[in-house]
Amino acid sequence: MKILFVCLGNICRSPAAEGVMLNLLEHTDLKDKVSVDSAGTSGFHSGSLADQRMREHAKKRKLDLKSLSRKLIAEDLEKFDYIIVMDRSNYENTKLLDPEGKYTSKIYMLTDFCRHHSVTEVPDPYLGGASGFELVLDIITDGCTEFLKIVQAEFKEAQK
Ligand code: 4NP
Repeated sequence: MKILFVCLGNICRSPAAEGVMLNLLEHTDLKDKVSVDSAGTSGFHSGSLADQRMREHAKKRKLDLKSLSRKLIAEDLEKFDYIIVMDRSNYENTKLLDPEGKYTSKIYMLTDFCRHHSVTEVPDPYLGGASGFELVLDIITDGCTEFLKIVQAEFKEAQK
């Protein structure tokens, strides 16, 4: 199974979601069966490590964010099984790469999976302060924890 997280710059939210999901998978028997990647709808920061502030906040939670920013491309929509976006604008920009709507059923908002946070988007932390990065990590952890349960159920069902 291939999972792709998407935000605007691929330096704050989606690399954090990639790191959180990889860490959650590490504690399951699915770690060799599921691959996780991230991308941005813009190529503004292509080739860069995640934003230093996000890397520092993630490190406090024992998450090492190593991915380099890359721009989302149309082929990603075909290649990945789940494309999970952070906000409504990411959703619309991702859909622009799928004009015929062939892949709509693969595209999800991460917040749709949240159980403990009553939010409809993962807010962009780029221009905010430290508390924004912490909130983003909390929301992402909530969404990914619940999403992992869906992934686990899917594998269990496939084994039957
Ligand atoms: P991200 O945050 O989409 O979570 O990676 C942003 C990073 C950079 C910019 C905007 C949002 N920017 O405008 O450069």
